[in-house]
Amino acid sequence: MRTQVVIIGGGPAGLLLSHLLYLEGIESVILERRTRQYVLSRIRAGVLEWGSVEILRQAGLSGRMDREGIVHQGSMVTWTGGDRFLIDTQKYAGRELMVYGQTQLTEDLYAARDAAGGTIIDEAADVMPHDVTTDTPWVTFEKNGETHRIDCDFVAGCDGYHGVSRTVIPDSVLRTYEKVYPTGWLGLLSETPPYEYLVYSRSERGFALCSMRNPMLSRYYVQVPLTDTLDDWSDDRFWTELKARYPSDIADAIVTGPSIEKSIAPLRSFVAEPMRYGNLFLAGDSAHIVPPTGAKGLNLAVSDAWYLSRGLASHFNAGSDDLLDAYSDTALRRVWASTRLSWWLTVLLHRFDDEDEIDRRLKISELEYIASSTNALASLAEQYAGLPL
Ligand code: APR
Ligand code: PHB
Repeated sequence: MRTQVVIIGGGPAGLLLSHLLYLEGIESVILERRTRQYVLSRIRAGVLEWGSVEILRQAGLSGRMDREGIVHQGSMVTWTGGDRFLIDTQKYAGRELMVYGQTQLTEDLYAARDAAGGTIIDEAADVMPHDVTTDTPWVTFEKNGETHRIDCDFVAGCDGYHGVSRTVIPDSVLRTYEKVYPTGWLGLLSETPPYEYLVYSRSERGFALCSMRNPMLSRYYVQVPLTDTLDDWSDDRFWTELKARYPSDIADAIVTGPSIEKSIAPLRSFVAEPMRYGNLFLAGDSAHIVPPTGAKGLNLAVSDAWYLSRGLASHFNAGSDDLLDAYSDTALRRVWASTRLSWWLTVLLHRFDDEDEIDRRLKISELEYIASSTNALASLAEQYAGLPL
């Protein structure tokens, strides 16, 4: 088999890249390790920056998002014993936010690739890129007990944090930066009407977040020790703990109900650079992970896919490699900005076991300062809204 771009990984980064390339007349094949059903059963984040919304609209991918997504002018922050403020992205950055699940977006991307006759090979095992520093890379994989080979011009590594693509880059070239936070998020999905805002809470009992998917689907999180398991958290315990982490007016307005999904996720910041090695390009979680505070992960997958599609389109359709050569630096500027914001919000809004009284008071002082300063609110809102592409 031969194609122009082999895309390893069929998550949002790989699917969107494949579709953006298709719109430029560039052929690609996606190799995904899991079944489509498995990929579509993963519950992930759900806030799109307006820049991501516009990329999806321009690519004709926004039909359902524009019908079902919920537009917000910003998100709230509360803390124990304190005030609250709105991160008003509309007021300070001129950009709203779209609350729309990554799971739903992934469904839309699969539907668009199918409608366009795109090739997505699922359950592709032992995927391996070869000769990526030459002009004739190739990728092998196993499917139904047979080994297959695809020759190509470029390989896009969109295979997430645990993927194979990044491992092809030698240690002498790849530099990685990592911080693991000593805590996790327990998420719960319920078919209940959500609270009217997204609300991040720093409480003495730990972080909490009220979020949503649609008018009858809510997503909530509480910070839990990494040693906890789902067996430790009955629905009753979750709702009691969640409400205990909010001021009473918000707690009273939270509508509880049976969970339809629960999961615990660790919190990590990770950046790998460069995002290019020869004719292999990394995009999305394969090159970087952010903790979910601030909801930047999906937006970085979208911006990487967009930058890479521009570079490849310019190579194939205009004969220029300038954008491809700039891809890693361009993408990493945004990656580092989002990594910094999500690290800062994570530290500010969580309680850590090794946090002592002075850390606690300093964080509360910082929250009070943000609430009282239009400059601080504007700075936070500009970053939360997402820096321009
Ligand atoms: N071969 C083929 N596919 C692979 C391999 C492999 N060796 N390893 C991983 N994959 C697949 C995974 O099964 C997954 O479907 O690559 C895909 C990567 O998708 P995501 O993990 O969703 O990553 P990405 O597309 O970069 O999207 C990033 O996901 O984790 C969230 O917060 C993150 O919202 C962000 C988004
Ligand atoms: C979510 O809805 O899952 C969500 C929202 C905001 C975040 C993280 C996750 O910062």
